[in-house]
Amino acid sequence: MSTARAPIGVIGTGYVGLVTAAGFAALGSDVYCVDIDAEKVERLRRGEVPIYEPGLEALLAEHAERLHFSTDLADALQHASLLFVAVGTPPTYSGDADLTAVHAVADAIPASKDHALVMKSTVPCGTGASLRRIFNEQGKAELAYVSCPEFLKEGSAVADFMNPDRVVVGDTGDWAGDAVVELYSPLDAPLVRTDVASAEMVKLASNAFLATKISFINEIANVCEETGADVVEVARGMGLDARIGQKFLQAGIGFGGSCFPKDVDALKQLAGNSGYHFQLLNSVIEVNDLQKRRVIGKLQKHLGGLVGKRVALLGLAFKPDTDDMREASSLVLSARLHADGALVSAYDPIAEEQARKLVSGITFASSAIEAVRGADAVVLVTEWRELVDLDYSEVAAAMDGELLIDGRNALDPEAIRAAGLTYEGIGRR
Ligand code: UGA
Repeated sequence: MSTARAPIGVIGTGYVGLVTAAGFAALGSDVYCVDIDAEKVERLRRGEVPIYEPGLEALLAEHAERLHFSTDLADALQHASLLFVAVGTPPTYSGDADLTAVHAVADAIPASKDHALVMKSTVPCGTGASLRRIFNEQGKAELAYVSCPEFLKEGSAVADFMNPDRVVVGDTGDWAGDAVVELYSPLDAPLVRTDVASAEMVKLASNAFLATKISFINEIANVCEETGADVVEVARGMGLDARIGQKFLQAGIGFGGSCFPKDVDALKQLAGNSGYHFQLLNSVIEVNDLQKRRVIGKLQKHLGGLVGKRVALLGLAFKPDTDDMREASSLVLSARLHADGALVSAYDPIAEEQARKLVSGITFASSAIEAVRGADAVVLVTEWRELVDLDYSEVAAAMDGELLIDGRNALDPEAIRAAGLTYEGIGRR
């Protein structure tokens, strides 16, 4: 791979920042990473990766000589023109995105005609325009600005970086937009070059649409339960229509993670702040909240009252192949079970450490079989391969009861019944 590629700066070393840094280093750029967390920077310098993301540690190690970590913006400013911003934009109590970290970066950038901020963080539509006003007020009018939203998925982030469905570059048609396009050119992805506001909206609208698709199929699943249809068959039949597509039609116990819940809310608030009531998104959020609780009703249907009942949760992370617990369905489920007097045990292949910080009143087991021992019911919460591939006869033998709730429709009902368990999925016959 060419080593003559432009060096870049990456501000913020979370999921998006680290994957962006590793990806561009792999493509041949020197990457100057900046983070305000000194301990994190130290760990990264030692080659330790503070998050679990398949393939990331290996990629960072492979290109270590091109990756530089610092708490000081000066290194990045000295070596690179393009400064990718990948800081957190968590939700506030109002549901709007908290742009404190973005503004701190904007304030820290000095006046320069040779530098550009390239926004990777998910920000409300209008952020680029408001930063432009701030730069003008601060005497930094020559600073360039590009919106370049990130579409990677946790758990497959490295592969997503290398094979993007599209690259979106929003700018004013100046040198900075050209430079970002050039940087992504080896990936040979479809390019959408547009204005800043439209690029910002592509990101929010994409996440909101995917979340809508999930809430839609979850409601279909709930209706299937009333009508005797099987949502897996229904989704297969729907998805073969190329206009609908097979992806994101997997019914389950709701979406979580750091993006969908936050971005759907942020788009709803953004619309509301400008006087538009985005009715559909209210429903998407409400359906998802209720979906996370439906397992309780299924447990009660089979077990009666839950006081003193032993319930094992298999998987805790918001989805497989990540240790991310943000907005995970397991948080709502475990809290509800605990409140109803159930005795909850849980096992997750990777996310236990993160889960311990957020969940109380449950026992953590060191294996799936240990978690299900003596259980009256087992709930598959996260479809980790390891959990889908369990020997369910062994699970049945270890349990006291025989109820298995497949919260992700990831198991074969016939195989589970053959193992001696009562199978209950989401919207399945
Ligand atoms: C999501 C988007 O998919 C990415 O394109 C985007 O870049 C990212 O948010 C972001 O904004 O940073 P991610 O949160 O990593 O990525 O996770 P997804 O794989 O999209 O899954 C989100 C949730 O939806 C999970 O809880 C998953 O279990 C659930 N889901 C997904 C379903 O319930 N059904 C499905 O069919 C698909």
